[in-house]
Formats: sequence, structure tokens, C-alpha cells
Amino acid sequence: MAYILGIESSCDDTSAAVVRDTVLLSNVIASQSVHEQYGGVVPELASRAHQQNIVPVVDTAIKNASIDKSELSAIAFTRGPGLLGSLLVGTGFAKGLSLALSIPIIDVNHLHGHVLSHFVQEKDGDPVPEFPYLCLLVSGGNSQIIRVDSPYKMTVLGQTIDDAAGEAFDKCAKVMGLPYPGGPHIDKLAAQGNPDAFRFARPRIPNLDYSFSGLKTSFLYTLRDNLKEDPGFIEKNKEDLAASLQSTIIAILMDKLDKAVKQTGIRTIAIGGGVSANSGVRDAIARYCEENNLTAFIPKRAFTTDNAAMVAVAGYFKFLNKEFCRYDEVPYARVTI
Ligand code: KG4
Repeated sequence: MAYILGIESSCDDTSAAVVRDTVLLSNVIASQSVHEQYGGVVPELASRAHQQNIVPVVDTAIKNASIDKSELSAIAFTRGPGLLGSLLVGTGFAKGLSLALSIPIIDVNHLHGHVLSHFVQEKDGDPVPEFPYLCLLVSGGNSQIIRVDSPYKMTVLGQTIDDAAGEAFDKCAKVMGLPYPGGPHIDKLAAQGNPDAFRFARPRIPNLDYSFSGLKTSFLYTLRDNLKEDPGFIEKNKEDLAASLQSTIIAILMDKLDKAVKQTGIRTIAIGGGVSANSGVRDAIARYCEENNLTAFIPKRAFTTDNAAMVAVAGYFKFLNKEFCRYDEVPYARVTI
């Protein structure tokens, strides 16, 4: 049995979690509201807020887990991808605490965390995916279909060639004048709109790759053309615009996922990343799996965004393999699966 402390600081959430093997004992997240007024994450402010939050967040996670820090077996931390200044805070803290406690550190690829988030068990016996499974990873920075053969073997089958799905949500929301990040606002408005009210461009690209930049341009042109005729166009149509945008993004995502299922014959589907919090995406995956007799793993909303629980569990798998990190290793802003 191992107790792993996970630390996540890749973007604008400072999070710490403790797992006993893969069972979650605590998960604490301090989000940074300071960025809202700037319409996006400001890297320097994010690093400072991590610096403010990291000690109380880790301390609370250990207390909430009802263990003593001397019982920890290892510390897993997000090494990348992410904002370098933010990553340095979590990495430096993990190194210092590991020296103080004489336990190893484990570097975790944030993307592996999202893919393996389905192994976080809130209680013993909670269901986890069987290998192999397909993971649709959709966030502000990624849109990928990943074949997962084991915690140690993941293959990207398709990915975006330009914008990520989350960027499509956020950028379109921005031109509608919605606050950042726009994805959750689109989600809320879409619930009251007609998804067939507007038609936007869909990409025609081969293989299992995605593209969202054409959709973004098509959305922008629709607004521009209609605003010429009626300056109140966005306000009058915001629900229908959101619903039509969301349904187009979902159709694009599901089209390639369906192709991947047919190509691989894999019967278990998981989703992860910030966009997997979207109600329409969740419903579409659940419906698709039901209709095709597949098993769906849809994370609780708390595990869709950045969280240390997934980092701790991904770290646990590396712990089993004794894959530890050296003290002279540094974070990386960019890295693939
Ligand atoms: O995984 P994540 O927290 O971090 C990044 O990779 O940036 O994902 C953030 C993304 C943002 O683009 C945000 O708008 C989107 O996830 N998002 C949503 C929803 N909740 C978060 N998009 C659509 N609907 C939502 N409910």
C-alpha cells in the first residue's frame, strides 16, 4: 500500500491530493479568480498565486486525508505541459518536501493525468476502465483521441491540427462578449437555444485529426454579417448561437471518435479534460455508447478540470514501476503524450 501526494500547478489551479493506491483520500483545489478581469490567464499572476496557495493547499490536502506527512510514500507533481512559471512552483515545492521527508519524487505528464483520471476511485471498488480504451481528451490546449493500452502505453490516434475544442468554445464566446473562459457560459446558454438555428463550417480533413479554426472563422463571419443588419443580433440570438456552436463542436468530436471506434474495435470510451465538463459533450458520449453497446467513462465534473487527484493516481502507476525523477530535472512547457 502506498500513500501518494499529488501536486498540480500547470495553469491557474493550485491543487494537492492524497491517494492510498488509487483511492482518493483528499483533493483540494484553489482556483485563481484574478485572471477573469483580463480575459485569460496571465502567466506571471498565475505563478504568484501558486506561490501564495501551495503551502496551505498541500497542508490542507494532507490534513483532509487524515494521515501524517511522515506516512507519505512519494510525491507526484505535474512536470508539464503548462505555464513554465506555474510549473516551477509545484516542481520546486515537490523537490523541497521530498528532501525534507526523504521520499522520492515522481514527475507526471499532465496529459497522462487526464487520461488516467478514470482510475481515481472515490471509494474502494469504484469501477475503472479495462484496457485497451479510447480516451477523448478535450481541453483548452488539446483535442486528441488516445488509445490507452496500459498506464505506460498510450498512442495518439488523432489530434487537432490547429485550435483545440476548448479554444473554439472560448474564442467564439469572446466574440459574443461573454466572460473568460467562455466554454461554461456557452454550455449554459446552449441549454435554452435551438441547435439547428445556425449552420457553421465543419472541417473536411482526413484520418482521425481534428480542426476547429474553420468553425471559429465561420462563426465570426456569421456574427459580422448579421451585426451589419442588426446591432442587437448577438443579444437577441445568444441562446441559439451558443446551441448551434456547441452542437457543431460536438458533431465534429463525435464524427472522429466514431471512426476511431470502428477502426480499432475498442469497446470502452473515456473522456477527459476541461471540455468534458460540457453537458452536450457528456450527453453525446453517453448516448453514443448506449446506442453502440459500448462502456462509457465520463468523469465527475470535479475531475474534468485540472486537479491533483489525477496527478496522484498517474504518479501511483509510476511508483509501482519505481519510475522516480531526479532532483536536477526541470519542468517542460511543452510535451506530448
Ligand atoms: O483542461 P482545462 O481545465 O485546461 C486547459 O487545458 O486549458 O480546460 C479548460 C477548457 C476551457 O477552454 C474551458 O472553456 C473549457 O475547458 N470548459 C468548457 C466547459 N467547462 C470548461 N467548455 C465547454 N463547456 C463547459 N461546461
